[in-house]
Amino acid sequence: MSVKEIRPSLEWERGYTAARPALKARLLANENPWGPSPDARLAIMEAAKDGNRYQHEAANQLKKMIADFEGVSEDHILLAPGSSDVLEKMAIMHFMNGGNLVAADPAYMSLIKTAMAMKADWKKVRLTDDWAHDLKGMAEAVDKDTKMVYICNPNNPTGTLTKPEEIRSFIREVATDDCTVFVDEAYLEFLPDYQRKSMVSMIKEGKNVIVARTFSKVHGMAGLRIGYGVMLPSMLEKVDAIWRGNMSLCKTSLMGAMASMQDTDFQAKSVRATAEARQQTMAGLKKLGFNPIPSHTSFMIFPIPMAGKAFLDAMFAKGIGVRAFDIFGEDYCRVSMGKPEEMDLFLNALEEVLV
Ligand SMILES: Cc1ncc(COP(=O)(O)O)c(C=O)c1O
Repeated sequence: MSVKEIRPSLEWERGYTAARPALKARLLANENPWGPSPDARLAIMEAAKDGNRYQHEAANQLKKMIADFEGVSEDHILLAPGSSDVLEKMAIMHFMNGGNLVAADPAYMSLIKTAMAMKADWKKVRLTDDWAHDLKGMAEAVDKDTKMVYICNPNNPTGTLTKPEEIRSFIREVATDDCTVFVDEAYLEFLPDYQRKSMVSMIKEGKNVIVARTFSKVHGMAGLRIGYGVMLPSMLEKVDAIWRGNMSLCKTSLMGAMASMQDTDFQAKSVRATAEARQQTMAGLKKLGFNPIPSHTSFMIFPIPMAGKAFLDAMFAKGIGVRAFDIFGEDYCRVSMGKPEEMDLFLNALEEVLV
């Protein structure tokens, strides 16, 4: 079964995520309206003059910086042009010879889609009633053909959190040499004290875990394409046997990422402004009679009384870009956190379209 058969809306949803220069509020891709950080912008401009040279030295510098930050050695770090690249590469590598993938429903589809294109079976495990991963159900779904379990925490598109200590117990039970647990932490930085919640701790215990992280969200560098995976050195060796490390990276993004990692004021501002936007959006939605799912991320989702495609047409006609999802037969709107004035535009348009 193909991913399009499982999630037919993927077909028409794609038409709404392409560039829309005319939008008044672009709240459809969980981009960070505040980024890149001022220091990153300067570093990127400065790096442009070195565009004639390959960038291996800069890649090694960023790798070292990330390794120090994560508390692992450099042979654990795979740099990538965005975490999408880590998701896709790991799906290709794990499912070259078949097997199944255990992942939640609904989940972020990138890794699942690539795995299914490699002919993997997706063993779906429905999120619990409070939208956490059903880790018991996922452990039960693992069988001898399971090559990977994918956990996105906090999850996209729901914005909800599965307790890190429960994921740790799950990893201790499930991760083996033959079954990798992949934890997508794209939104982890929006949680207080996030480093203690990261599953990098399990890699340090020697477990077969891959953690994907990105500069696209809290760092506001989505268009600059930079992210990384943390994994056991033995896994990284398998990657190196197929792909030539660092060749998809560019100097500007590497220098921008290094500057952004050091610009902790900007990161704090992103987290603070996102939390404020969540408060504004939650209050506005409740006032209009909607029932949003409390979010731990830079987006929020809520049920809507209109078919997703018609809803998007109406919102886009007003210059407001959002996403629509069909979750268990119910229509939902997912809205990314933007600047306060963008959230006001969104709430006004929503009132006109649905209330
Ligand atoms: C959960 C999750 N993982 C990964 C990504 C991919 O991000 P990027 O490739 O920009 O790092 C996204 C982007 O929205 C995401 O929501």
